[in-house]
Amino acid sequence: MTEKLEKLLKRVEEFNPLNIAEVEEFRIRILGRKGELNDLMEEFKTVAPELKRELGKQLNHLKNRATERINELKQKMQAASTASSPALGDMTRPGDHESLGSRHPVSIVRNEIVSIFSRLGYTVAEGPEIEDDWHVFSALNFPPEHPARDMQDTFFIEKNPDILLRTHTSSIQVRTMERQKPPIRVICPGRVFRNEAISYRAHCIFHQVEGLYVDENVSFADLKQSLLYFAKELFGENTRIRMRPSYFPFTEPSAEVDVSCNLCGGKGCPVCKGTGWLEILGCGMVDPNVLESCGIDSKKYSGFAFGMGVERVAMLKFGVKDLRLYFENDVRFLHQFETAI
Ligand code: DAH
Repeated sequence: MTEKLEKLLKRVEEFNPLNIAEVEEFRIRILGRKGELNDLMEEFKTVAPELKRELGKQLNHLKNRATERINELKQKMQAASTASSPALGDMTRPGDHESLGSRHPVSIVRNEIVSIFSRLGYTVAEGPEIEDDWHVFSALNFPPEHPARDMQDTFFIEKNPDILLRTHTSSIQVRTMERQKPPIRVICPGRVFRNEAISYRAHCIFHQVEGLYVDENVSFADLKQSLLYFAKELFGENTRIRMRPSYFPFTEPSAEVDVSCNLCGGKGCPVCKGTGWLEILGCGMVDPNVLESCGIDSKKYSGFAFGMGVERVAMLKFGVKDLRLYFENDVRFLHQFETAI
């Protein structure tokens, strides 16, 4: 019987289950009512009285050890199974993909425009979005009856026609010239507001970048060359520009600038409506009246200015057909610009 007790004790010590079910099975087989330990108890009853003391000890030891070991293994298995339970998740599963945010296409293009002009020595200037009539209109040579001042175009604040949301970033030109003496070379990005119906090509809030260069002997040729450089940097080396005479109150002469269509290379396609050209900005030589309004001697200094809509440039650069997409913040739209930084 000693031999049987020893063998069973060895099995108990060496038992190496894979899971908790195996431990329970083992417990029933050894400690259960019809288990092996009970068989040994029965056998114990039949042994000679002089052996009972020693065998009884061994039997007790076996019973205690088996109970202890089984409890120990149960605990261990339980701990292992909670580690891989749904609460903590399967530690070997690949992690959830954390998608990185991307820059908004309007920011991408604004940064690019600013960076191109900073390579030409321009520094960034900013101004307030809530402006007064002087900086948005009067100093920029807008006649009092100019339609841009009209309630239909401009958001006025609290019925005070002197306080308004700027309708263009040209107001930053004025603020810069009032503050600084020539030479002035600034690039002015900003948000602007116009009381317009929202459609695929217009919004009541959008972004512009304004440029201003004032110094002695600044000429129209300088303007043209700077804009050509800009267009090539933005749309590619083969880009051409053309200037069409235009009118702005604050520049004389004024022009509108087209770039050769970057989609068809100038051959004509639906985006450029068959013309081969895309309009991107307005520009001109700063009107002497504007220089004088800002305290700059127009006999000594001349300058050029230009302004463009960032959403429009971004539409041309990325082939976006509806301007409203820029404001909806649909991640499916925004994700497409992840690599455009
Ligand atoms: N401010 C004009 C606009 O909002 C854009 C513009 C045109 C700016 C010509 C200029 C310029 O500086 O010279 O439509």
